[in-house]
Amino acid sequence: MEMAEFLIRGGKKIKGEIEVRGAKNSALKILPASILFANPIGITNLPLIEDVFRMLELLKALGIRVEKPNGRSLKLGGSEVKIGHLRSDIAERFRASIVLAGPLLAIGKTVTFPHPGGCVIGKRPIDIFLDGWRSMGAKIRSNKSSYTIEAKRLVGSQFIFRKVSVTATETLMLTAVLAHGKTVLKNAAMEPEISSLAKFLNKNGAKIKGAGTSTVEIIGTGGKLLRGGKTFQVIPDRIEAGDFLILGAALKSRLRVIKCNPEHLEAIITMLRAGGANIKSGHDWVEIRPGRALSGLDVTTREYPGFVTDLQAPFTVLMTQAMGDSMIFETVFDGRLNYVEDLVRMGANVTILDPHRVLVHGPTKLHGREIESPDLRAGLAFIIAAMVAEGNSVVKNIYQIDRGYEKIEERLQKIGADIRRVG
Ligand code: EPZ
Repeated sequence: MEMAEFLIRGGKKIKGEIEVRGAKNSALKILPASILFANPIGITNLPLIEDVFRMLELLKALGIRVEKPNGRSLKLGGSEVKIGHLRSDIAERFRASIVLAGPLLAIGKTVTFPHPGGCVIGKRPIDIFLDGWRSMGAKIRSNKSSYTIEAKRLVGSQFIFRKVSVTATETLMLTAVLAHGKTVLKNAAMEPEISSLAKFLNKNGAKIKGAGTSTVEIIGTGGKLLRGGKTFQVIPDRIEAGDFLILGAALKSRLRVIKCNPEHLEAIITMLRAGGANIKSGHDWVEIRPGRALSGLDVTTREYPGFVTDLQAPFTVLMTQAMGDSMIFETVFDGRLNYVEDLVRMGANVTILDPHRVLVHGPTKLHGREIESPDLRAGLAFIIAAMVAEGNSVVKNIYQIDRGYEKIEERLQKIGADIRRVG
């Protein structure tokens, strides 16, 4: 059981600059891609977070040579993969472990892995991945504890996603690059992390077209490893950047978010401006300044370029501080509004309409409390709530937060937050 926790004293304004790290959800796809190459690859701007450490452990357990990170840079791959078997004790701890199954299947013709786990929302189905592999000629066996995927010969296919899925799009891309012939993925996800992954693979010898649109075409090498040898710079984490803008808005403070890509932040910036926020941006920064009192807004989470589900919880916290009613509609995940009960205990006035919709009546004062992070994004939302609240809060189960945010307390302290890690 996780013992460390954050102690937060709320009610303080913040100011200054805060730096965004490399994107967790990009790094977690680039690392497994490294086994597809004949030569080692380099990665820079790697976020030093728990999920990245877990992925590196999985790679090492497969015999992949991983150099110790030098700051945020790392070299890996170009070595032979030992076994097509993901270590279950590690893979069960985070959902993105399944991404590694794609390239492993492509190389080793067989892969065994446990049902991927993680936080409360991490244990979601993997049926779409399985359908995708089946369409390329794979056979699937499963029992209580694991799945085994086998394909003597992987053949490119036409695959239509029944439901848009980010990691399934990426994982199937990572399988198809070594398959025989052409794969066409339709109704594919369009997140910036996907175009970035394709760019990186193409730079290292892959042939992928259309990534970032809903149709992705991949010409497979027919089993031959990709060349590799090049270095990849992880794109800035757009979720972290969005969290910080929301924090600035919630505390009515002036905050400059630096080392981010404003192009990836259009949905959140548009939403904040619609509520009255005063936002300026440049090439790689966005600044929020105290403006008029924020008004309530309705938000529906969607696939990119819509409003991202990962900012839903922080945004709901913000809406407790806005004037009027806000309807929050979570359409991407089940169970991603459960944290709301804790917000209510902190003083928020929220009507739960159904498992996917809540109505926030603002503004309300929040009061410090002891709260436990159910997943990393709700965990970060609790940090924001605690910083807005009067009095002291304890945020528990912070492994969930460390999974995706690098030393968040140190970066928040620098802009004036009263937050400490204990235990
Ligand atoms: C990615 O998850 C991100 N994770 C998530 O970030 C993010 O919230 C999500 O995309 C949506 O943007 C990573 O990139 C590692 P999905 P992913 O498959 O790909 C259902 C964070 O906090 N589904 O697009 O796993 C699924 O249950 C994380 O950083 C199936 O039914 O999400 C969900 O309802 C959390 N069957 C919907 O699709 C499947 O086989 C979309 O999920 C696969 C998914």
